[in-house]
Amino acid sequence: MGKFIIEGGRTLTGKISVSGSKNAALPILAACILCRDKCTVKNCPRIKDVENAALLLQKIGAEIKWKGNALTVDSSNINNYNLTDGPADKYRGSIIFLGALLGTFGKAKISAPGGCRIGRRPIDFHIDALSMMNTAFSTTHGIISASAKNLSGEEIVLKFPSVGATENIMIASVLAKGETVIQNAAREPEIVDLQDFLNSMGAKITGAGTSKIISKGVASLHGTEYKIIPDRIEAGTFLIAAAATKGEVFLKNARYDHTRQLCRILEKCGAVIIHDKSGIYINAKKIRLSPHVISTGAYPAFPTDLQPQMMSLLTTAPGLSIIIETVFESRFLHAEELKKLGADITLDENRFTIKGVPYLKAGNVRASDLRCGAALIIAALSAKGMSVVEGSEFVERGYQNIERKLRLAGAAIRLTD
Ligand code: EPZ
Repeated sequence: MGKFIIEGGRTLTGKISVSGSKNAALPILAACILCRDKCTVKNCPRIKDVENAALLLQKIGAEIKWKGNALTVDSSNINNYNLTDGPADKYRGSIIFLGALLGTFGKAKISAPGGCRIGRRPIDFHIDALSMMNTAFSTTHGIISASAKNLSGEEIVLKFPSVGATENIMIASVLAKGETVIQNAAREPEIVDLQDFLNSMGAKITGAGTSKIISKGVASLHGTEYKIIPDRIEAGTFLIAAAATKGEVFLKNARYDHTRQLCRILEKCGAVIIHDKSGIYINAKKIRLSPHVISTGAYPAFPTDLQPQMMSLLTTAPGLSIIIETVFESRFLHAEELKKLGADITLDENRFTIKGVPYLKAGNVRASDLRCGAALIIAALSAKGMSVVEGSEFVERGYQNIERKLRLAGAAIRLTD
């Protein structure tokens, strides 16, 4: 169990480079196998979840090669659709290979993804949709076997705009016979990135970013070179950290259009935010936090992946703030940890009431998932004194060198095993 040691109470000042998007990289890496050719994915973050996805690609028989943040995947000789041992057991990401394995081999064997600390993480939307596309499923002892002699396009209406289900359907559709229409599709920027990647391999997909995506099946695909979008959740995490420490930070590569919701809230509190195509500048020296009511939701609503970090910030906003978590049924463990630092938070079902306190105290806390860890780091940066955030391995799943990036911006933070 690694931990971050943080001496809080310092303002963040300087430049932070935002890495490529974890949640764009994972489906794009899975989709690389569809072309049985060479793909180079640039701006790929060097984080645990991506390294696990690279391991799964090797298990499928692809050759992978890193060059800085560019990952080349050669799927010319792939030969295995069985991902039921090794990291897949511990790693939910194997589900995102389902559509790619079916599109490539017409078969797939993956471990049923375990739930995690933020929710049960069911995959019924994925199974129902792929079944409609002519896939037969069976599950025994936690192993999901799927077979699709010939995947066929279908009109699929998602009950909820699920990101993963939208991605699996898109990936399975590109080599399926006929046209696939996804209604009530997820609209996240990572869905648009996946469409652009697939089209760069020769797919014919339109509509990503809207609720209706249309994919016309093609006979084959070819290799490509593609640059992934910056990570909007990492950018949002650093924007909130700058606000929490009344700092002045330039986030290189961050995209304002992907973090608009959050930027508007921070601007309403008096932060100055200037943006152009090179990134986002925030000056939070004169920020005056005010109470907010925030409900998370599917994009473009406020992202659930920034809910814990926003809660950290609102713990010292005078008055009563409300956060309603509508996406994951148990994304609340960060609240318990923040209370150890003096926060006043009550939870009623999926509704948090946060009563502002003058300041957070330093203390020892433990991350239970990726974004919980990010929220606790933000809290520790703002609390005067020495804090310890345990569970750094959760944070390293989704943030590349977070302690080095924060240290370069003036934070007193180090990572110990
Ligand atoms: C993706 O997860 C992201 N992960 C999550 O980011 C993100 O929080 C989530 O989308 C929502 O934006 C990746 O992209 C790798 P969903 P995903 O399917 O695809 C329910 C992070 O911190 N559901 O949109 O799993 C589900 O239980 C991670 O980077 C079903 O009921 O999310 C949840 O309540 C955390 N049945 C809701 O839908 C299904 O078949 C949204 O899930 C699928 C989902």
